[in-house]
Amino acid sequence: MKVFHSVRALRADLNRDRLKGSRVGFVPTMGNLHDGHLALLKQAKQTNDIVVCSIFVNALQFSLNEDWDKYPRTYQSDCEKLRETGCDYLFHPDDIEMYPNGLDTQSRVICPTMTDVLCGASRPGHFEGVTTVVSKLFNIVQPDEAIFGIKDYQQLAVIRRMVEDLCMPIQVTSAPIHREADGLAMSSRNRYITDEERPKVIVLKDALDWIASQIKIGNRNFSELEKAAAEQVEAAGFNVDYLTCSNSKTLDLAANDDSEITILGAIFTESARLIDNVSLSGS
Ligand code: PAJ
Repeated sequence: MKVFHSVRALRADLNRDRLKGSRVGFVPTMGNLHDGHLALLKQAKQTNDIVVCSIFVNALQFSLNEDWDKYPRTYQSDCEKLRETGCDYLFHPDDIEMYPNGLDTQSRVICPTMTDVLCGASRPGHFEGVTTVVSKLFNIVQPDEAIFGIKDYQQLAVIRRMVEDLCMPIQVTSAPIHREADGLAMSSRNRYITDEERPKVIVLKDALDWIASQIKIGNRNFSELEKAAAEQVEAAGFNVDYLTCSNSKTLDLAANDDSEITILGAIFTESARLIDNVSLSGS
C-alpha cells in the first residue's frame, strides 16, 4: 500500500493509473478502522482496479462541543488493517493540506434538503461539513465509484443528492451495516460505551426492529410507535435524541401511503451518541 500525505503526490499516481485505464474506487473514512470500514474496502476491490482509502478527522463536521479532539486516532493499526485488506492507496492529509486557507473562509457545499432533520437537527452544520469535505475528497481522488455505509443512512442520502445535484461523475454505492455479534452497529464511537452500558445499548436496535415489526403487521400509527419505542430506550437508562419513521428517499416523516420506510434512531449513553437504522420496503 502506498501512503500519500499530499494532494499533489496522490494526484500524480492516480493520473498515471487512469491513463492505463484503471478504474478507481474510493472509501472516505475518519480512521479508527473496524470491520465495517474494511467491508467497504473489500466491496470496492471487487469492482475497481485501484482502491483508495482516505483517513481524515474532519473538524468542519464537528461542532465545538463535540468529540473532534478526542476522536480516536489509531493511524498505525489502521495502516496494518488496510494493508491486510489489500487497499492500494491511503490518503492521509493533515489539516493544512485539506484546509490551507483555514476553516473560516473555506468555500462550502450545502445540500438544502434532508440536512436539518434527524442528525442534522441535533448537529447543526454537521452535514455542511460532510458535503464540503466529501466534495473536496472527490475532487482530489476523482473516483469512478465511492462506497458509503448504510450505517450513516442520512449521510448516504445527502451525498447521493449532492452528487446528483452537482453532476459529479461518480457512482455512489452503498454497503450494508456491519454489526457486532449481538447486533450493535460497529462504530468508532462504540469505544466510548462503558462496560456497564455495553449489554444494554442493543436496546436501540431492538427498538428499531420492534417498530419495523409493528409496521409489517399493519400498525401505521408512526408517532405512537416512536413514543413507545422511546420508552423502551429510556427504560434501559438512555436518553433518546430521535426515533423516527421516515420516507426512505426524502427523509420526510413517513406518510401513511409510503411503501419505503426507514426507521432511524440516535441515543445518548453517558459519553457516546449512537445511531442506527432499519429499512422496510414494499410494506
Ligand atoms: P466514518 O465514520 O469513519 O465512516 C466511514 C464510512 O464507513 C462511512 O461510509 C460509514 O457509513 C461507514 N461505516 C461506519 N460504520 C459502519 C458499519 N458498522 N457498517 C458499514 N459501514 C460503516 O462517515 C464518515 O467517516 C465521515 O463522515 C466521512 C464520510 C469520511 C466524511 O468525513
